[in-house]
Amino acid sequence: MTDGNVPVRDAGDLLRRARRLGDLSQRELAARAEVSARVVSRIESGETTAPRLDTLLSLVGAAGCHLALRPGLPGDVAEPGPAATDRAGRQFPAHLDVRPVDRFGAWWGDWPFLSTRVEKIWHRAPRQRPDNTFDLARWRRDVRRAAGERPDGYARGDDGPAATRRRQMTHDPDLRTADAEIADLVVAESERQRDCVRLIASENYVSRAVLEATGTMLTNKYSEGYAGKRYYEGQQVIDQVETLAVERAKALFGVEHANVQPYSGSPANLAVFLAFLDPGDTVMGMALPAGGHLTHGWSVSATGKWFRAVQYGVRKETGRVDMDDVRDLALAERPKVIFCGGTAIPRTIDFPAFAEIAREVGAVLVADIAHIAGLVAGGAHPSPVGHADVISTTTHKTLRGPRGAMLMSTAEHAKALDKAVFPGLQGGPHNHTTAAIAVALKEAAQPEFRTYAQAIVDNAKALAEGLTSRGFDLVSGGTDNHLLLVDLTTKEIPGKQAAKALDRAGIELNYNSVPFDPRKPFDPSGIRIGTAAVTSRGMTTADMDTVAGWIDQVVEAEKAGDAAAAEKVAGEVRELTRRYPTPGLPG
Ligand SMILES: Cc1ncc(COP(=O)(O)O)c(C=O)c1O
Repeated sequence: MTDGNVPVRDAGDLLRRARRLGDLSQRELAARAEVSARVVSRIESGETTAPRLDTLLSLVGAAGCHLALRPGLPGDVAEPGPAATDRAGRQFPAHLDVRPVDRFGAWWGDWPFLSTRVEKIWHRAPRQRPDNTFDLARWRRDVRRAAGERPDGYARGDDGPAATRRRQMTHDPDLRTADAEIADLVVAESERQRDCVRLIASENYVSRAVLEATGTMLTNKYSEGYAGKRYYEGQQVIDQVETLAVERAKALFGVEHANVQPYSGSPANLAVFLAFLDPGDTVMGMALPAGGHLTHGWSVSATGKWFRAVQYGVRKETGRVDMDDVRDLALAERPKVIFCGGTAIPRTIDFPAFAEIAREVGAVLVADIAHIAGLVAGGAHPSPVGHADVISTTTHKTLRGPRGAMLMSTAEHAKALDKAVFPGLQGGPHNHTTAAIAVALKEAAQPEFRTYAQAIVDNAKALAEGLTSRGFDLVSGGTDNHLLLVDLTTKEIPGKQAAKALDRAGIELNYNSVPFDPRKPFDPSGIRIGTAAVTSRGMTTADMDTVAGWIDQVVEAEKAGDAAAAEKVAGEVRELTRRYPTPGLPG
């Protein structure tokens, strides 16, 4: 084709390229391309020489693909355009392009058969009206406008203001045009998250609304300070965003003070150290191998290096924290700060008991609810409010917000915490994240969120039951929350080997130390499982039994070196994940 567009007879090339990509996730792409190719070959063979646009769109849409048409070309019933002739002398639409498209509307992959000169045009698919008809008039207008632009989409013409814009990097191409490599990786990761059963206990899927808020103009703004007291001008809007987030956090958790600026959970915890401790002071937290977090004083963390950390664990017989042991340690060591909560605790945290001990030794009690914040907000785990002086949380786990964190407290500690976050530890807050936190907090305040939080726990309990009945050994014998810690010692497979085998089968989780683990942290005895993400997709307790069965089959297949059995599970995983929409991905 003179304009660089490849005629439809080259659709086979699309399929070949897709096949060559090879890996699991791309196989689905190849399958889509195959359907596209079939649609094209129907047109090519003359079966559909003058296809109605709506017929084509439904055919291609059913294949999960998108159809791009040029104005005035075949397929556009209103304005039939030039046709090409195939080798058998049959006419077919010369400029019909059918390609897989992701649910964001971005093209799958970088399809080199498409000339960059017309790329801008092809990127514009007709806008679909709510009644499923297409606004072709508007589309044609868009395309005409686009057709005047440079092929790379950067600017019009080579002279004048447009060229200046290009030279000064003030042109404004979209992600795919500006950086196809990253655009492809974003699509690949979206696809990966869509196609696997995600059981990483610290992860979730945010809603589309939260996702949208994270990618906004708010990322452009600096706003050191707090609402009404900033070090930069132009805070008319940002102050409102942050105030909304703060007020929503206070209302949702029932706290007197909230700071939504910590960049993430670790800096939030470091701010707590800065607020209440001097270097060398004693802090008490749960040991990392017992389920605590690095930032609660573990030796390799700054919190363990710069402070005198004493650590409690769990009882070997029960796998649970023994509050008498905690009290004994606190009385002996007199810490200034006590952390409760952690990163691999499958059981309810006894906030009142921790508060009593803290009061007895005059310590500040910090409840790190990073993992369970969504459960607390949804009423599926007791709240630390009224017991803990300070509550630290990430916003991206069961709470279903963006990557971020919050510190909450009684009014008494508000000033110390705010000063520690800024200017003590951080500069400007990430305002796009603050906006997304506000959205997540609004979502968590809806009555449905209570149902969601309970469903997370129900799913965890069902998964625990499914695994226990298949002979798996759970630390503490089960779960009260979203999290399970599985000791694979009796299954005679290391955690890392099991986690990697499961990942190959599309079941994503992490290897994890278990209490009193004789193995090293980078190759420990256990795996950690969480049910927040699968619950966000709508999976239920019945699915959890299926998942437990798969975990069992993959572990056994891995031990027996039975690749076929693992591959069979992988196929079943793909079937299941197709049934549940992925939050954040349209369609
Ligand atoms: C209990 C707890 N606190 C703090 C953090 C740290 O959060 P981040 O990874 O956002 O720094 C985590 C992360 O997993 C956590 O589980």
